[in-house]
Amino acid sequence: MSNHTLLLVTCGAPLASRLGDGIRAARELGWSPYVIPTDAAQPWLDEQDLADVPIIVGNRKPHEPRRTPTADAVAVVPATFHTLNAWATGNAYSYPLTTLCAALGSRTPTVAVPYASHELTNHPAWSASLTLLRQAGVRVVDPHDGSLGSLEPVTSGTGGQVVNGFRWEWVFEQLASAARS
Ligand SMILES: Cc1cc2nc3c(=O)[nH]c(=O)nc-3n(C[C@H](O)[C@H](O)[C@H](O)COP(=O)(O)O)c2cc1C
Repeated sequence: MSNHTLLLVTCGAPLASRLGDGIRAARELGWSPYVIPTDAAQPWLDEQDLADVPIIVGNRKPHEPRRTPTADAVAVVPATFHTLNAWATGNAYSYPLTTLCAALGSRTPTVAVPYASHELTNHPAWSASLTLLRQAGVRVVDPHDGSLGSLEPVTSGTGGQVVNGFRWEWVFEQLASAARS
């Protein structure tokens, strides 16, 4: 696994506050992580120790060299309602979304950890997007318990508990399993 490239997309929801832990866990397991944040994720990153990880923001200029090696794996943690739906519909108008759409098109092993409340997940687009992404091979991990089969919305008032209870090993177990299959 040494020097294998992990593109870590992160979106604007409270679970982004655990990104630093994910970078350290990735390196302990031999991954070389690159962080690709959405604009909305930034407030959750400002206060964290991100261990000097390369952070790739915005599109590169036309003559600029590529900023990351080819991805061996991609994870989006957290995946917001907005990003998950945009990704599923093939919307690539930002660098994080282009990264996610390309991961799907290239069948790169990909894990998503959605994080959204009932108000958002009851919108009909949500379940349609999840179905499409799962059918395309994305491993969708529940932030409550790491399960793949079901996905619970984050109940109002429990966000802190969910963020603190989240374990990055759930993501890395799925990436390892996807790489084996
Ligand atoms: C304090 C705060 C908490 C938020 N929590 C969530 C959330 O849990 N899930 C979600 O889908 N969006 C949440 N949002 C809204 C997203 O940040 C917003 O939809 C944003 O446009 C998402 O952009 P992105 O998908 O490019 O990161 C939150 C916004 C704020 C300011």
